Amino acid sequence: MTRGALIAIEGLDRTGKTTQTTNLLSHLTKLGKPHQLIKFPDRTTQIGKLIDQYLTDKSFELSDHAAHLLFSANRWELIDKIKKLLAEGVIVVLDRYVYSGVAYSSAKGLDFEWCLSPDIGLPKPDLTIFLKFKNDDENMTRDGFGDERYEVVEFQKKVKVAFEKFKGIEGWNELFVDGKGIEQVEKDVWGKVEDYIEGVEEDLKFF
Ligand code: TMP
Repeated sequence: MTRGALIAIEGLDRTGKTTQTTNLLSHLTKLGKPHQLIKFPDRTTQIGKLIDQYLTDKSFELSDHAAHLLFSANRWELIDKIKKLLAEGVIVVLDRYVYSGVAYSSAKGLDFEWCLSPDIGLPKPDLTIFLKFKNDDENMTRDGFGDERYEVVEFQKKVKVAFEKFKGIEGWNELFVDGKGIEQVEKDVWGKVEDYIEGVEEDLKFF
């Protein structure tokens, strides 16, 4: 039996990641393709609740390294579920994953290789779609950010630079979102996902 594809949607805050993920899921539903969304951080678990507190309460003190390890632990606690779904032929769509973990923490100044190390052994996505802005200044300042810890323009710029390091890795696809309507981005996303919906023959690869 072919396994389900593991597809990650990555991007800076406010690139329309959640909208595009939702649209992708409704496409899969319409086609009757079994699928499951897993969002990272998953704020519903015990570790996820701590992460939520860290993100929403700026007075919650935690070292950058400890925060990074919590995000990674949050992925590890869901990995058996993800592997089981893939083995059953379910397409698993990840809203953020390892790449966000590494990009956000290394943007704070943590060592890039160290940031990847706790995620070593997690399955690699077959396809990653990274949503990005061509014109950062215009888009990042347009509506302002929310109240969470990382929703700050200057920090997002550093995260963008950190994400650039993934360019060229297997399965990595970049999509500009500015200057296009939501529907066009949706079509572009679908154009990339289409080849994966019948499942994937190969064994999973791991970080
Ligand atoms: P969200 O807005 O997609 O729920 O993500 C919450 C924030 O957490 C977002 O600013 C990105 C950040 N983040 C990390 O710093 N490390 C991680 O491993 C993940 C998954 C997200």
